[in-house]
Amino acid sequence: MNHIKLDHFSQENSPILTCIKDIYERYQPINDGNVATYIPELAKANPDLFGICITTPDGQIYQVGESQDCFTIQSISKPFVYGLALADHGVDKIMSKVGVEPTGEAFNSIVFDEENNRPYNPMVNAGAIATTALVKGDGYEHRFNRILTMFEGFAGRSLTVDEAVFQSEKSTGHRNRAIAYLELNAGMLEGNLEEHLDLYFRQCSILVTAQDLGIMAATLANNGINPITKQQAVNPEEVRAILSVMASCGMYDFSGEWLYRIGLPAKSGVGGGIIAVLPGQFGIGTFSPLLDPRGNSVRGIKVCEELSQRFKFHLFDSHPVSQTCVSRTYTGAMVSSKRQRRGLQRDFLDQEGEKILVYELKGDLYFATLEKLTRQLQSNQQTAQFIILDGRRVGNVNSSAITLLSEIKQWGLSQEIALMLTGFEHKTIVRLQDNGWTDEMFVDNIDTALEWCENCLLSEQYYQDITVKDKLSLEEMDIFKAFTPEEMTVLAPLFSEVSYQANDFIIREGEKSDRLFLLAKGMATVSLRLSQTEQRKRLTTYIPGIAFGELALFDINVSQRTADIVADTEVICYVLEFDKLKTLLKTKPEVYIKLLQTFGKTLVNTIKRATLEIRSLSV
Ligand code: DON
Repeated sequence: MNHIKLDHFSQENSPILTCIKDIYERYQPINDGNVATYIPELAKANPDLFGICITTPDGQIYQVGESQDCFTIQSISKPFVYGLALADHGVDKIMSKVGVEPTGEAFNSIVFDEENNRPYNPMVNAGAIATTALVKGDGYEHRFNRILTMFEGFAGRSLTVDEAVFQSEKSTGHRNRAIAYLELNAGMLEGNLEEHLDLYFRQCSILVTAQDLGIMAATLANNGINPITKQQAVNPEEVRAILSVMASCGMYDFSGEWLYRIGLPAKSGVGGGIIAVLPGQFGIGTFSPLLDPRGNSVRGIKVCEELSQRFKFHLFDSHPVSQTCVSRTYTGAMVSSKRQRRGLQRDFLDQEGEKILVYELKGDLYFATLEKLTRQLQSNQQTAQFIILDGRRVGNVNSSAITLLSEIKQWGLSQEIALMLTGFEHKTIVRLQDNGWTDEMFVDNIDTALEWCENCLLSEQYYQDITVKDKLSLEEMDIFKAFTPEEMTVLAPLFSEVSYQANDFIIREGEKSDRLFLLAKGMATVSLRLSQTEQRKRLTTYIPGIAFGELALFDINVSQRTADIVADTEVICYVLEFDKLKTLLKTKPEVYIKLLQTFGKTLVNTIKRATLEIRSLSV
């Protein structure tokens, strides 16, 4: 199926948009609440305006109503400025100046945590003024520009200030001024108090739209990366802190009930905006200036509540119990590498292959799925000598999975089990390397890892055997094991010896199949060109003693080569042109038949092995 590009996605018939429109139409007629009047300029707000925007971390924006109308951000500025102060000073300093406990009181309440000599939290005015006072910079202009630039990073566009609202707030913000003076008196706040207050009033007067809020919320949902500009607006550590205070204190004296009913970190402002965030999934921005007595937008709350109920967005809604992350598991006895093995080596690996365990993983890796994997690994620790974990079908790998994988690595070391990871994404490999996984533990693919494990097993017993240096004689070829010296004297003259350099093509795909090869020295690999890429998939690697190209023996007239065979090293082959067999059929039919039967038998073995491998697919 073709991948639908999000940029080209038409929202016209989007079920998501239909749903948001439905919610919009449902609450548009509700006129409960009042616009804020304590800041005179805000009293001019149009109570009919109503906009909703939902933005996803990959930048899809769903919006309805007056989502492009500007209004002042007000208290929604507080979590973002908190993030800036955290980035400026670090958690310890900020925690010593502003707490994280909900007050259960109104946004402008005059209460302090006198035991710790700090405001309760950065979402109420007392905490927000103290937080703004901590924003670094060289004077008012510079400090405000830092705040504005940060907000612009979140919104992904240039923002401006509503000067009229700013002046209105500055001239009537007596209560905030009183809070600041009390803080100054208690030593909770330092520096130029009027400058701090101006900064606070100005940050509240920055103009945004519901769409801006949707994108700002989605930036928080996206670990601090703006989904539109793809720029990091804030570090992930700060995102966690911001969302935590939003969850516990963002809706003032409605915070507890909000978390109970809606279950998302959120923040409201008296300009009529609300942001809500479902980490990893989306950000919501709503705008409707009609406020309830607590200063939260009436329609905004209803929209979020309805969305949360319809889609079960509540963070604590029932979660599916985690399934296993193992999609397939098999041993090296069931599936072997694509390197051909002969005789004793093959028998040995058929027996000892049990010591190699492959786990093909799928889906997201996090604590619960990996915990199940660790139990599975442990149950095999008596037999396992090698464990291959394949990550080609793995989705997200979260931090606890990285930690657990590192514990698994340590466990492997303690049990003397060689652990290898194949097919994991580069970014996961980098994170694992930061956690002590070394380069040699990452292998490109299962086949290469299997071959490495097999070679290790073989080298214990058959090291000599796998590093055959000398050219094998015709009689030493596997195929001729059951042939008598007399039969060999008939056959030998039919073969000619051909040499190849490393990287020479021995067989090319599409060529006529008119001969077979017996590998006397060196190694050669059969590979397929994967369509439209330069990449090749290895089907098998031949070692001395093995025959190849023999399939054509059963299909002489029509056959064409179906893959390339390239010399990996210097190679010597005994080559038999099929034309020469015609004479053999006439002069020594019994030798001819025996030859065909022997090749037939090797094919039967190949098919048996393939059947075993296919069976492991359905386990
Ligand atoms: O401190 C004030 O009064 C305003 N500038 C911000 C208050 C606010 O938005 C409260 N939120 N609901």
